[in-house]
Amino acid sequence: MKILILNGPNLNLLGTREPEIYGAETLADIETHITNCAKELGDSIAIDFRQSNSEAELITWIGESRGRFDGIIINPAALTHTSLGLCDALKAVADVVPAVEVHLSNTHTREEIRHKSLTAAACIGQIMGFRGLGYVLALRALVNKLSDNA
Ligand code: DQA
Repeated sequence: MKILILNGPNLNLLGTREPEIYGAETLADIETHITNCAKELGDSIAIDFRQSNSEAELITWIGESRGRFDGIIINPAALTHTSLGLCDALKAVADVVPAVEVHLSNTHTREEIRHKSLTAAACIGQIMGFRGLGYVLALRALVNKLSDNA
C-alpha cells in the first residue's frame, strides 16, 4: 500500500513557526512518527512524504497520484481556505486515491477565515487539533479504510 503525504505552504517552518499554535515538532519529527507508525502497521506500507510552498506543485503531485498511490494524507495549510484548484485535483483522483485532511491546530477555534475548508469536501475525513499526532491518526484511519475496501 502506497501513501502520499503532502504538506502545504510554510509547514517546512514547523518547529520555529508559532510553536504556541503548531507545537515544537519539526516536519522531520512528524515524518519520523509517520514512518514508525507505518512500520508498526506492516511491512507493506510505503510512505512518500513531501512539502511544497507551491500550490501548482501540490496540484501536479495530486494529479500524478492516480495509479501510483493508494491514498493521500494532506495538510494543505493556508491553501485549505483558498484553493479550489486543490479541491478539484483531490476530486479528480478521489475514485481511486482517497484523501484524509489533517490540521495541526483546531482551525475552528481560530480566525473566522480559517473556519472554512475548501478541500475537506474532496476528502473522506478530516482530523484536526492534535498537532503532529493527527498525521499518525490519519495514517491509521486511511490504512484501515483501504484494508476494509480490499
Ligand atoms: C494549518 C492551519 C491553517 O489555517 C494554516 O494556514 C496552516 C496550518 C494547521 O495545520 O493547523 O498553515 O493547516
